[in-house]
This record gives sequence, C-alpha cells and structure tokens, in this order.
Amino acid sequence: MTSSRKFLVGGNWKMNGSRQLVETLVKALNEGSWSNNVECVIAPPSPYLHQVRSTLRSEVGVSAQNIWTEAKGAYTGEISHEMLTDLSIKWVILGHSERRAIFKESDELVGKKVANAVKAGLNVIACCGETEAERDAGNTTEVVFRQIKAIASQLSAADWSKVVIAYEPVWAIGTGKVATPQQAQDAHKEIRGWLAANVSKEVADSTRILYGGSVSAKSSPDLQKEQDIDGFLVGGASLKDQEFLQILNSRL
Ligand code: 13P
Repeated sequence: MTSSRKFLVGGNWKMNGSRQLVETLVKALNEGSWSNNVECVIAPPSPYLHQVRSTLRSEVGVSAQNIWTEAKGAYTGEISHEMLTDLSIKWVILGHSERRAIFKESDELVGKKVANAVKAGLNVIACCGETEAERDAGNTTEVVFRQIKAIASQLSAADWSKVVIAYEPVWAIGTGKVATPQQAQDAHKEIRGWLAANVSKEVADSTRILYGGSVSAKSSPDLQKEQDIDGFLVGGASLKDQEFLQILNSRL
C-alpha cells in the first residue's frame, strides 16, 4: 500500500546565508524541477524571509526557524506568528535540538510554542530526537515519546493536520553520521505507534514524519524507501543548490 502522506523535503539553513546565497538558492529552486509528489519548504534565517518569499515561486513553502509564543510585545530579539503571517510565511520549525540544547528550550515550552503556532494558523515542523548518550543508554524511545507527549498534550486531534514531526537524532546532526535507513525507520515506526496509541489511528496514519540528520544526495535514495519516512529535514546539504535538488529528486 502506498502512503497518502505527501513526501516533504525541508531545507533548514540554520544561521547561514547572505543575500547572495538567497539569490543563488532561490534561482535554483525556481528553475529546478522535481516530482509533483514532493512538497518543498525552505527555512532561511529570519532576516531573509521576506526576500525569499517575494522571489521564490509560490508552490515552494517558506518557513521560519523559530518563533516566540506571543503575537507582539516586549520580547527583545524575538519574532512572532503575526509577523510571519504578515510576510505570507506559512511554516515554522519548532523544538529543533539546537534550540533545546543551546537556548535551553524545555519540552513544555516547545509544546506551548507548537500549540500557539498551530492556533495562529501556521504549519509546524516539530522536532524531536535523542542524544548519542541517550541512545547508548537504550533511552531513545523514552526521550522521543517524552518530547512528543509535551507537544501532543497541548493539541487537539484536529490541530495535527498542521503538524509535521521531524525525527532528528542529535548524534546525526551536522556530523556526517547519518542514521541507517533501518535505525530511522525503527524510530519513525515507534513515533507513529505512539500517535496511534495516544492520539488516534487517523492522526498516526496522516501525520508526516521527516528524518533529519546528515541527509545528503548519497543517503536520501535509500532512506526514502522506508515505509514510515515521509520526507527529510536537510541542514548542511540544503545550502548546496545542486545537492538539494538531487535530494528533492530522490523521491519519484
Ligand atoms: P544536517 O543535515 O546538517 O545534519 O542538519 C540536520 C538538521 O538539523 C536539520 O534541521
């Protein structure tokens, strides 16, 4: 049975880029082609969101990399869902492991951010994933379930239509050490099982679960074959126009 979940390839630029790089990457995506069965969303740093959205063809989605929980106010350094809507930005990545580890975002805060973003009408790529020490200690599912539960506890079943999960094992992020297709598939299957048991079978069947962590043009063809891998969240390779197009084209 083929899945009804549309394959999604996201490009998380993290804190990288310049006006020049935006021009190069937007040009490549505007001129490039890939299957209609693949949705693409790119997440440049917030200073470039407007430039990207106003030059990129409309079928390609644009995402912020983080937002605060409130619409406006005295939160120096933060950006809001209201600003994204003002810029016609329809996506946001929340709970990335770099936000969790470096900026000390708790499970609870991530859950609150996801709920607020969904209620504001945004589509959310909500990230989860274990560290190497957690995996070595046999705690992968415990950690991932705890992170997903903190999100699920603040969402209604209907809210899940706006949420995509990204499973990003921390040990695979930026390390070149990509999870094997089997390791990724096992984790994705566990996450889908958790959704079936704790939210609903419908939500488990329809929610897309992306894999992130050193995805490259070399690793994507095998990863995309796995039944519960519904796309990728690509970091470093999303900054290389030709490689990102190759990843988009690894799914037919
Ligand atoms: P890399 O692809 O650079 O490992 O980054 C993955 C990631 O964190 C995407 O959000």
